[in-house]
Amino acid sequence: MKGLILSGGRGTRLRPITYTSAKQLVPVANKPILFYGIEALAASGIREIGIVVGDTKREIMDAVGDGARFGVRVTYIEQEAPLGLAHAVLVSEPYLGADPFVMYLGDNLIREKLAPLVQRFGEEKPNAQILLAHVPNPQQFGVAELADGKVVRLVEKPSQPPSDLALVGVYMFDRTVFEAVKAIKPSARGELEITDAIQRLIDTGRTVRPHVIEGWWKDTGKLEDLLEANRIILDTLEPRLEGEIEASEIHGKVIVEAGAKIVRSVVRGPAIIGKGATIENAYIGPFTAVGDQVVIRGSEVEHSIILEGSSISDVGGRIESSLVGRNVVIYRSESKPKSYNLMLGDRSQVGLV
Ligand code: TTP
Repeated sequence: MKGLILSGGRGTRLRPITYTSAKQLVPVANKPILFYGIEALAASGIREIGIVVGDTKREIMDAVGDGARFGVRVTYIEQEAPLGLAHAVLVSEPYLGADPFVMYLGDNLIREKLAPLVQRFGEEKPNAQILLAHVPNPQQFGVAELADGKVVRLVEKPSQPPSDLALVGVYMFDRTVFEAVKAIKPSARGELEITDAIQRLIDTGRTVRPHVIEGWWKDTGKLEDLLEANRIILDTLEPRLEGEIEASEIHGKVIVEAGAKIVRSVVRGPAIIGKGATIENAYIGPFTAVGDQVVIRGSEVEHSIILEGSSISDVGGRIESSLVGRNVVIYRSESKPKSYNLMLGDRSQVGLV
């Protein structure tokens, strides 16, 4: 059994962050999202992982390397353009060969352990096994219709959903999927859709088995879900204080990494403060991940992800539900008359009080 992680794509919903870096490397609780997927596959016993990469190939390769530190062997597979999830499968055929595989979307997080599913798939050998989750808003997902314990139909973002079972970003296939991805045509948005490939498997008499997951699952493709994933993961961490803490209050589950300094501040967990970060005269509220070398002075930050190297100083209002990129500078402007001084990248979003 091999693993296939999809880490190309456009990432339009996370612009401007994705103009300069891969969305799969945005950290959740200070760890790149992609690493959770690699770890989940490794924990299920998979040792060979292909990672599909696009424009952000260099950055992904630099972050993941050869996979040794995850106990796996990583091979990079180039996709010339983000032409769809099924297209990513198509370009991976030479790597995957005849082996069954687990396909994992590189921006997804899933709580359920994959090992029992991988084992069952290996033993019972259906042609595909798809993971499904009950959702309150099936109109926004690929949705499965089941009958007699099998998947009989998949519909993409249906206005009248046949069920509340959404496709989760983890799939298992045997080699018959390659016939399916070669047979389908691009959809209206110009992509080879994995739902069409799975429907093709069903229509040609292959067995597609459903597995409804119990724990949470998050597609972190947009800000709201990314913050929610950060919230969920922070809540599962074990507190650990390794940095320097001076005249400060630390409440709840908090991780302060080595080299971080917290001075005359309040940190209310769950929260993580990265290596070498400085928090001074500040308030860090629940569900906040502060990256390495970040400086927060005279400011309040809550329910946010602040990426490495950024600095936030003397900001009047509380920064909340925000994602701040790398090396961003936010400061109180002293200019007169009172004014906002901004230098923002394309498609930045700023909510001012
Ligand atoms: P999506 O989030 O569905 O697509 P996207 O990355 O293009 O994002 P957006 O909709 O915001 O523009 O992709 C799911 C995962 O699969 C993600 O990790 C990117 C990856 N992917 C590929 O590797 N190749 C592809 O052709 C596509 C469409 C996605």
